[in-house]
Amino acid sequence: MLSPNSGGGTEVALFFNAGPRLEAEEFRLIRDLVHGFCGIRLADESRLAVERRLGERLDGLGLQNFAEYCELLSQTGRGQGELEHAVDLLTTNETYFFRERPQLQAFENEVLPQLRELCALRRSLTVWSAGCSTGEEVYTLAILIARSGLFAGWDVRVFGNDISRRVLKTARRGVYRGSSFRAMPEGWKAHFIKTPDGYMVESKVRSMCHFGHFNLLDRGRIALLGRVDAIFCRNVMIYFGDEARRSLIDSFYDRLTPGGFLMLGHSESLLHLSTAFELAHLTGDLAYRKPSQLPFVPRGAS
Ligand SMILES: C[S@@+](CC[C@H](N)C(=O)[O-])C[C@H]1O[C@@H](n2cnc3c(N)ncnc32)[C@H](O)[C@@H]1O
Repeated sequence: MLSPNSGGGTEVALFFNAGPRLEAEEFRLIRDLVHGFCGIRLADESRLAVERRLGERLDGLGLQNFAEYCELLSQTGRGQGELEHAVDLLTTNETYFFRERPQLQAFENEVLPQLRELCALRRSLTVWSAGCSTGEEVYTLAILIARSGLFAGWDVRVFGNDISRRVLKTARRGVYRGSSFRAMPEGWKAHFIKTPDGYMVESKVRSMCHFGHFNLLDRGRIALLGRVDAIFCRNVMIYFGDEARRSLIDSFYDRLTPGGFLMLGHSESLLHLSTAFELAHLTGDLAYRKPSQLPFVPRGAS
């Protein structure tokens, strides 16, 4: 996996690449194209990791070296399709059910009751998992909502998007095994049905979940989502440059219902990116909230 842009490239020293060599200039071209396309900033230290990951792609395309690959990436039309493919090979898709437990518990115990109040008149709730990878986060949120019992009879939609078609295929299938379950509470097994290929999310939960393929930098596409009441964007922005982070945060602000929540990964924050949100202090976690007339009521204060 490539390291987040703030980190080093520890894996880099561990591998010797026997395939085609990626020259510094070629790396810079790929880095700039990837950054412009999807916001992901490849650190200089990741050059060898990029060389190894894309080296296999060169083989598949019958190309001799990275100079030919860069030429392909630079072509109008065909280049864009290949760039999508390259990004798919370079992104980190790590995810699992019930990831970052304290945050999810705070969502269940403190955010959901507030959302029930916020959305009571229309009896509909929309939650967006931005950069959902193979879907475990989307199903986790749907299970939490279903188990809360707060939204029975409501129109509930949990929506996930990703830039990778490959991971979305897994997400839509909803069948998981082994490491996806490494942090899942024992009692949640009831939400899965055993199949020969793994465990399938039960249909009651699946019917709440929807997936879409789009780039988080595509503001026009994001506008089509309509209003959302809570956004989870976890372990996505750590790979982005600042400009892409700002653009994404602006999109989140536009999409959120006033009073709606933004939940980031534990190593991510809005520091130096936006002052438009207010802080919601949850037990054991911190969330962001789009300001509204309805004040945020911390747990226990009534
Ligand atoms: C590490 S996974 C995080 C999955 C999940 N949110 C979690 O925390 O478990 C990051 C995902 O973000 C996706 N991603 C990265 N840049 C993106 C972009 N510009 N648009 C949409 N998805 C993107 C990647 O394809 C990857 O699947």
